[in-house]
Amino acid sequence: MDQLSAKTIEIVKSTAPAIKANSEKITSRMYERMFGKYPDAKPLFKNAPKNQPQILARAIVAYAENIENLGALDAALERIAARHVEISILPEHYSWVAESLLGAVKDVLGDAVTDEVNKAWTEAYWYLANVLIEKEKKLY
Ligand code: HEM
Repeated sequence: MDQLSAKTIEIVKSTAPAIKANSEKITSRMYERMFGKYPDAKPLFKNAPKNQPQILARAIVAYAENIENLGALDAALERIAARHVEISILPEHYSWVAESLLGAVKDVLGDAVTDEVNKAWTEAYWYLANVLIEKEKKLY
Protein backbone atom coordinates (compact mmCIF):
# COMPACT_ATOMS: atom_id res chain seq x y z
CA MET A 1 0.00 0.00 0.00
CA ASP A 2 1.29 3.46 -0.84
CA GLN A 3 2.35 5.55 2.12
CA LEU A 4 0.49 8.74 2.93
CA SER A 5 2.22 11.80 1.54
CA ALA A 6 3.95 14.20 3.94
CA LYS A 7 1.56 16.92 2.78
CA THR A 8 -1.49 14.80 3.62
CA ILE A 9 -0.12 13.98 7.07
CA GLU A 10 0.51 17.66 7.73
CA ILE A 11 -3.01 18.68 6.66
CA VAL A 12 -4.73 15.88 8.58
CA LYS A 13 -2.81 16.87 11.72
CA SER A 14 -3.62 20.55 11.30
CA THR A 15 -7.33 19.91 10.73
CA ALA A 16 -7.69 17.24 13.45
CA PRO A 17 -8.75 19.76 16.15
CA ALA A 18 -11.58 21.14 13.97
CA ILE A 19 -12.68 17.61 13.09
CA LYS A 20 -12.57 16.63 16.76
CA ALA A 21 -14.56 19.67 17.89
CA ASN A 22 -17.28 18.86 15.32
CA SER A 23 -16.92 15.09 15.07
CA GLU A 24 -20.41 14.08 16.15
CA LYS A 25 -22.04 16.68 13.92
CA ILE A 26 -19.95 15.39 11.03
CA THR A 27 -20.73 11.72 11.58
CA SER A 28 -24.47 12.36 12.19
CA ARG A 29 -24.53 14.28 8.93
CA MET A 30 -22.62 11.44 7.29
CA TYR A 31 -25.34 8.89 8.17
CA GLU A 32 -28.04 11.31 6.97
CA ARG A 33 -26.28 11.69 3.62
CA MET A 34 -25.50 7.97 3.30
CA PHE A 35 -29.00 6.68 4.13
CA GLY A 36 -30.50 9.32 1.82
CA LYS A 37 -28.33 8.49 -1.15
CA TYR A 38 -27.64 4.78 -0.55
CA PRO A 39 -30.76 3.18 0.94
CA ASP A 40 -29.06 -0.23 0.70
CA ALA A 41 -26.80 0.89 3.56
CA LYS A 42 -29.74 1.03 5.97
CA PRO A 43 -30.25 -2.68 6.66
CA LEU A 44 -26.54 -3.06 7.49
CA PHE A 45 -27.08 -0.74 10.46
CA LYS A 46 -30.30 -2.31 11.71
CA ASN A 47 -28.68 -3.55 14.94
CA ALA A 48 -26.32 -0.62 15.37
CA PRO A 49 -26.42 1.16 18.73
CA LYS A 50 -27.95 4.63 18.93
CA ASN A 51 -24.50 6.07 19.54
CA GLN A 52 -23.03 4.66 16.31
CA PRO A 53 -22.22 8.24 15.12
CA GLN A 54 -20.15 8.80 18.27
CA ILE A 55 -18.42 5.44 17.82
CA LEU A 56 -17.47 6.31 14.26
CA ALA A 57 -16.51 9.86 15.30
CA ARG A 58 -14.15 8.54 17.96
CA ALA A 59 -12.53 6.20 15.44
CA ILE A 60 -11.99 9.01 12.91
CA VAL A 61 -10.50 11.32 15.55
CA ALA A 62 -8.23 8.56 16.86
CA TYR A 63 -7.07 8.03 13.29
CA ALA A 64 -6.33 11.74 12.73
CA GLU A 65 -4.46 11.95 16.04
CA ASN A 66 -2.37 8.86 15.32
CA ILE A 67 -1.77 9.48 11.65
CA GLU A 68 2.00 9.21 12.23
CA ASN A 69 1.75 6.19 14.50
CA LEU A 70 -0.86 3.93 12.98
CA GLY A 71 0.60 0.89 14.72
CA ALA A 72 -1.07 2.22 17.88
CA LEU A 73 -4.44 1.64 16.22
CA ASP A 74 -3.81 -1.87 14.98
CA ALA A 75 -5.67 -3.73 17.73
CA ALA A 76 -8.65 -1.37 17.41
CA LEU A 77 -8.67 -1.78 13.63
CA GLU A 78 -8.55 -5.56 14.03
CA ARG A 79 -11.71 -5.40 16.19
CA ILE A 80 -13.48 -3.09 13.74
CA ALA A 81 -12.63 -5.47 10.88
CA ALA A 82 -13.98 -8.44 12.86
CA ARG A 83 -17.25 -6.58 13.53
CA HIS A 84 -17.51 -5.55 9.88
CA VAL A 85 -17.07 -9.17 8.79
CA GLU A 86 -19.91 -10.30 11.10
CA ILE A 87 -22.16 -7.86 9.22
CA SER A 88 -20.74 -8.75 5.77
CA ILE A 89 -19.33 -5.29 5.02
CA LEU A 90 -17.74 -5.42 1.54
CA PRO A 91 -15.06 -3.31 -0.21
CA GLU A 92 -17.69 -1.63 -2.41
CA HIS A 93 -19.44 -0.25 0.69
CA TYR A 94 -16.42 1.92 1.47
CA SER A 95 -17.17 4.34 -1.36
CA TRP A 96 -20.60 5.02 0.24
CA VAL A 97 -18.91 6.08 3.45
CA ALA A 98 -16.19 7.98 1.55
CA GLU A 99 -18.63 10.14 -0.34
CA SER A 100 -20.96 10.62 2.64
CA LEU A 101 -18.19 11.36 5.14
CA LEU A 102 -16.23 13.76 2.94
CA GLY A 103 -19.47 15.51 1.97
CA ALA A 104 -20.41 15.79 5.65
CA VAL A 105 -17.01 17.30 6.53
CA LYS A 106 -17.63 19.92 3.87
CA ASP A 107 -21.22 20.55 5.05
CA VAL A 108 -20.14 21.07 8.66
CA LEU A 109 -16.78 22.83 8.30
CA GLY A 110 -17.72 24.85 5.20
CA ASP A 111 -15.08 27.12 3.69
CA ALA A 112 -12.38 25.72 5.97
CA VAL A 113 -12.47 22.70 3.66
CA THR A 114 -10.39 23.96 0.77
CA ASP A 115 -9.71 21.71 -2.22
CA GLU A 116 -6.37 20.91 -0.65
CA VAL A 117 -7.97 19.84 2.66
CA ASN A 118 -10.55 17.79 0.80
CA LYS A 119 -7.85 16.07 -1.21
CA ALA A 120 -5.82 15.26 1.91
CA TRP A 121 -8.79 13.79 3.78
CA THR A 122 -9.82 11.80 0.69
CA GLU A 123 -6.36 10.27 0.57
CA ALA A 124 -6.32 9.67 4.34
CA TYR A 125 -9.80 8.08 4.30
CA TRP A 126 -8.86 5.65 1.53
CA TYR A 127 -5.65 4.74 3.27
CA LEU A 128 -7.60 3.73 6.38
CA ALA A 129 -10.32 2.07 4.31
CA ASN A 130 -7.71 -0.05 2.55
CA VAL A 131 -6.19 -1.16 5.85
CA LEU A 132 -9.65 -2.34 6.95
CA ILE A 133 -10.47 -3.90 3.56
CA GLU A 134 -7.22 -5.92 3.70
CA LYS A 135 -7.90 -7.12 7.26
CA GLU A 136 -11.46 -8.03 6.29
CA LYS A 137 -10.27 -9.92 3.21
CA LYS A 138 -8.09 -12.11 5.46
CA LEU A 139 -10.97 -12.76 7.87
CA TYR A 140 -13.37 -13.68 5.06
C1 HEM B 1 -12.76 3.81 7.24
C2 HEM B 1 -14.03 3.49 7.34
C3 HEM B 1 -14.71 2.93 8.56
C4 HEM B 1 -14.43 3.10 9.89
C5 HEM B 1 -13.31 3.93 10.52
C6 HEM B 1 -15.41 2.36 10.64
C7 HEM B 1 -15.48 2.27 12.02
C8 HEM B 1 -16.32 1.44 12.72
C9 HEM B 1 -16.29 1.23 14.15
C10 HEM B 1 -15.34 1.94 15.12
C11 HEM B 1 -17.25 0.33 14.46
C12 HEM B 1 -17.60 -0.23 15.86
C13 HEM B 1 -16.91 -1.57 16.03
C14 HEM B 1 -17.30 -2.28 17.31
O1 HEM B 1 -18.50 -2.49 17.53
O2 HEM B 1 -16.39 -2.62 18.06
C15 HEM B 1 -17.90 -0.04 13.23
C16 HEM B 1 -18.97 -0.90 13.12
C17 HEM B 1 -19.78 -0.95 12.02
N1 HEM B 1 -19.50 -0.43 10.78
FE1 HEM B 1 -17.86 0.58 10.26
N2 HEM B 1 -16.26 1.74 9.76
C18 HEM B 1 -15.88 2.09 8.49
C19 HEM B 1 -16.49 1.69 7.33
C20 HEM B 1 -17.74 1.10 7.27
C21 HEM B 1 -18.50 0.88 6.07
C22 HEM B 1 -18.00 1.19 4.66
C23 HEM B 1 -19.69 0.36 6.43
C24 HEM B 1 -20.87 -0.01 5.55
C25 HEM B 1 -21.44 0.85 4.74
C26 HEM B 1 -19.67 0.21 7.87
C27 HEM B 1 -20.68 -0.30 8.64
C28 HEM B 1 -20.57 -0.67 9.96
C29 HEM B 1 -21.60 -1.40 10.70
C30 HEM B 1 -22.96 -1.85 10.15
C31 HEM B 1 -21.09 -1.57 11.99
C32 HEM B 1 -21.74 -2.31 13.16
C33 HEM B 1 -22.80 -1.54 13.85
C34 HEM B 1 -23.36 -2.45 14.92
O3 HEM B 1 -22.78 -2.49 16.01
O4 HEM B 1 -24.35 -3.14 14.62
N3 HEM B 1 -18.47 0.67 8.35
N4 HEM B 1 -17.31 0.62 12.19
